[in-house]
Order: sequence, then structure tokens, then C-alpha cells
Amino acid sequence: MNAGNIKTQNNKNGDAAMPFMAFTNDSESIVVLKQFALNNSWAESIIHSGDIETAAQFLKTNHSPRVLFVDVTSQESTPAALDALADVCEPGTKVIVSGKINEYSFYCWLVDVGVSSYLLKPFTIHSLEAAYKKTTETSVNNGTPAAELKNHAKIITVIGARGGVGATTVCVNMAWIMANNLNHKTALLDFDPQFGTVSLALDLEPGKGLRDALEKPDRIDGLFIDRVMVKVDDNLSILSTEESIEDTITATEAAAEALFKQTQPKFSYIIIDLPRVLSPFTRYALAHSDHVICVTEYTIAGLRESLRYLEYCRDILKIAPPVFVANRVGLAGKHQMPKDEFEKGLGQKIKFDIPFVLDAHAAATVGEVLAETAKNIPATRVLHLLAEHFTGSAAEQKPKTKLDSILALLKGGK
Ligand SMILES: Nc1ncnc2c1ncn2[C@@H]1O[C@H](COP(=O)(O)OP(=O)(O)O)[C@@H](O)[C@H]1O
Ligand SMILES: [Mg+2]
Repeated sequence: MNAGNIKTQNNKNGDAAMPFMAFTNDSESIVVLKQFALNNSWAESIIHSGDIETAAQFLKTNHSPRVLFVDVTSQESTPAALDALADVCEPGTKVIVSGKINEYSFYCWLVDVGVSSYLLKPFTIHSLEAAYKKTTETSVNNGTPAAELKNHAKIITVIGARGGVGATTVCVNMAWIMANNLNHKTALLDFDPQFGTVSLALDLEPGKGLRDALEKPDRIDGLFIDRVMVKVDDNLSILSTEESIEDTITATEAAAEALFKQTQPKFSYIIIDLPRVLSPFTRYALAHSDHVICVTEYTIAGLRESLRYLEYCRDILKIAPPVFVANRVGLAGKHQMPKDEFEKGLGQKIKFDIPFVLDAHAAATVGEVLAETAKNIPATRVLHLLAEHFTGSAAEQKPKTKLDSILALLKGGK
């Protein structure tokens, strides 16, 4: 390969690693890529003819760039093609995917497996530049190196705009649906060691002994996680504890970091029920989540607190705005704040409205999960849509990757 006048940087082996390489057959994309190469003083030879499969073939025998641009042609063939790429890319290579698939679920899936950016064709030089900039920034949400594209649990943190709005209900049901209906290995972590209600909601015995580890994070290792997590079924595990309320527990950022580090390799999705009082422990979780959900209600107070969380995520943490979910919709009847007014005040659309249903109360009273006991009511259907929003698709459409099969085998599955 002729690197021409490309600016280089040493890779792990001490060889020169290219900053960027592209594979596409699309003439419009090539025009934009050529301009992009020119703007960066890179040789046009970094643009190769071919798609993601060609890239995997090429990178079997050539060094990987730091950022790889690949063209995908169909939703169905992408998972296998990304697997093949993961097998050949050197550690650290980030991936920008481009294609004509205009499906939000596909975009979510790409983000979930760790692709840095998706450029819908035709794209402009500005969107390519923005994607490249995002990918090369050292922020937490700029994608996963290609070599690790799949084995990385996505973290979804749920906060309640106000107490009692239904954050725990959303967490428990979403985790249950992801595990049982969408067939993902899911962990549900209750980040409130003293007042958390996840175990109550599932009628499980809360764990004990987490406090010590939260205060001394070096004790949190893989074995510890296996010991303290309660397995609800094959796909769903819970971490929840009921520590004494006599003292204040001083869980640190390091505890959250250690919990993430130890749970991420074991699951596909990690759902966190976050207490509303923010501490270094919970702030770390918010800042390092792939997605944040804010459960709210259509009231003035719900709007005020939603706005504060929105601003905190956007302006302070500099992460994507939370996905807002309105719960117990309809409970206040005509006294409920109109949805359009709420959306106007927040400056965001509310995509998910979960109606108020007595079934939810009934389920909570006996430690049952609404998604299990009342499968076909509108509230459960919205909870399904919410879970699918993050996983990308319903179970039967979920593309199966080679790694899924390998992991299933390692874990004793078929
Ligand atoms: N959509 C709903 N309809 C009716 N009751 C609900 C709904 N969602 C939650 N609840 C009930 O509201 C109460 C508070 O819910 P919870 O999930 O514990 O809130 P939070 O975690 O925000 O404090 C519980 O009794 C729960 O069963
Ligand atoms: Mg709660």
C-alpha cells in the first residue's frame, strides 16, 4: 500500500499507523472522501475500492489505521462483516460505518456494538469531519476499538426526575424484557445500597456485604461480582443490597469504575437504577453510561427536574441528553400538564408515554414484574418499545454475531 504523504503515528509494534483509511464503492462518497483527504494533506491512496468485506480482507495482511471508514450494504450482512473486521483489526482501530440503511434500530445497534459513527449516504464533508473528530476525541462515548466491537456491555442508567415517578419500575421491566424477550445477558444494578427497591420489586432477598466493597473498591473483582449478584434466570442477574441506614455510605467513583469493569465483560446490557441524590459514585455512573433515561411525569415539578438533569448531562457531563420517559400518564386526568407544553418547556420530544395502570401497582405489591404478568397491556407494550430502542430490534430480528455464539458456548449454552 502506498501511504503517500500521509501523516503517520507509531502503532504498538513501533510501525507507522495511518490516521485514516476508507473502503467504499460509492462514487458520491469517494468525492467527499477525496476532499477530506485533501483537507488533511493525506494521499488519495487511503481511499480503497470495496466495502467492509474488502476492508477485512485487506487488513489481514496490512496494518490497521487508527480510524477506519467502511461501507456497508445490508443490515443482514453487517454483523458478520463486523465480526470479520474485529478478527483482523489491530487493537485501537475505531470504525466509522457508512451506508444507505435509514433505520433507527440499525443505527442503535451499531452504536451498541461500539461503532464510533454512522454516516447515512449521501453524506457531506462536514458530517464526515464531525464523525472523524468525534472518533479521535478522547471522550468516553467515541466508540469501541474494532477489535473489541462486541464484547462490551452497554450501560443504560435510569434516573427518576422526582421520587416515586417509576424509575425502578422502568428499570426492572426493561431489564426483564431485555433478558427474557430479547434474549440478552442483562445485569440490573441497584445503585442505592440503603434504600434501593429493585430486590423488593422482584421479590428477591437483597444481597449483603456490598457496603464493604463500595468503600474499598479494590475488593471488587470478578469473583466478588459472581458471589454478590443474584441470578434471576439464565439471562438476568441482579445486584442489590440493603445496607443499614445508621451510617452514611461513602461509595466513591472508584467503586463505580470497579463495578463497571467487572460486570461489563459478563453481560450485553447493564441497567442501573440510580438514586436521585447524586454522589461521586452515581455521577461516575451517569458520566460513563452509554445511555441515560430520565423517567418523569407531566407536572411542573417533573418538568423542572427533567430540565435540570438535561442541562447537567449536556452542559456539565457533556454526554448525550437523556431519553425522557413519561410514566403514570393519565393519573392526574385533566390536571395533568399538557404533553406539548411539557415538550416545549423541555425542548425535547417525549417518545415514550407509559400510561398509569393499576396492574403496575398490583404487580409491585406482590413483587411481580408487569412485563411478565400483564404482557399485552399498553403500558407493557411501551416498555417493550423502550427496551428495543436500546437493543436495536426485537429478539427474532436481532442479528446474531459470531461472538454471541462463542460466548454462549463458553457460558455452557448451545
Ligand atoms: N405506569 C404505572 N402505573 C401505575 N403505577 C405505577 C406505574 N409505574 C410505577 N407505578 C407505581 O408507582 C410506585 C413508585 O414506583 P417506583 O418505580 O418505585 O418509583 P421510583 O423508583 O421512581 O421511586 C410503585 O408503587 C409502582 O408500582
Ligand atoms: Mg426507585
